[in-house]
Amino acid sequence: MKIRTRAERLHPGAGAVTAMRPAQNTAEGIQLAGPEAATEKGGYTMKKAIVIYRSKTGFSQQYAQWLAEELHCKVLPFRERKKENLEEYDVIILTGGLYAGQMAGLNWLKKQLPSLRGKRIAAVAVGCAPTGFPGQPESMNTLFGGTPEIQGFYCQGGLDYEHMGAADRAMMAALRAVLKRQEGKQEMLEGISRSFDGTSREYLVPVIRWAAQA
Ligand SMILES: Cc1cc2nc3c(=O)[nH]c(=O)nc-3n(C[C@H](O)[C@H](O)[C@H](O)COP(=O)(O)O)c2cc1C
Repeated sequence: MKIRTRAERLHPGAGAVTAMRPAQNTAEGIQLAGPEAATEKGGYTMKKAIVIYRSKTGFSQQYAQWLAEELHCKVLPFRERKKENLEEYDVIILTGGLYAGQMAGLNWLKKQLPSLRGKRIAAVAVGCAPTGFPGQPESMNTLFGGTPEIQGFYCQGGLDYEHMGAADRAMMAALRAVLKRQEGKQEMLEGISRSFDGTSREYLVPVIRWAAQA
């Protein structure tokens, strides 16, 4: 199935973001495969993997797409999760947006744990805050601390006001109003005042490393 990435959906005909980004040598020394490698047999095919994404505005979908290209594996939207028997997979990765500190799809993944014993399971939380934001360790601990079976990761997504639902837009407006009244929150306020895309394929290096471990 051809997944339309966020960039393809927003700019049909312009080509996917993935198609515009060349293979990258990362600071950590991993050679990211790049989109062209998706059709080749690569180094991550030893285990059967699947990436599932739950995404409202496309950022987690973009990360899922990139991961699937790197790992040469299937990528599945959350709404189709029941079509798939997860017990057939060795590595299961969920990507999902962060909404008020909660990761989309994570409760569902936690409920699947009893039937997924012995498998390698990861969850990639995608929020608008930059990696290393104040309180990130606490936030990650709240999400994943109670479930050591799930390896948690964080990747920066972005904000897309154009494709946000009315309720989410209203919540962001309320948050901006609160920040406006607080001292020292100017930078954060500016950061969430307009749409931006903070995604980077490079942020997935730790996830790819984890998935490649035997
Ligand atoms: C109502 C609302 C609440 C949000 N809460 C958080 C949050 O707690 N932490 C965060 O980093 N980002 C938060 N965000 C930003 C989203 O996580 C961000 O836009 C993300 O990239 C969305 O991913 P998706 O398009 O895959 O759903 C929030 C956005 C909205 C609209």
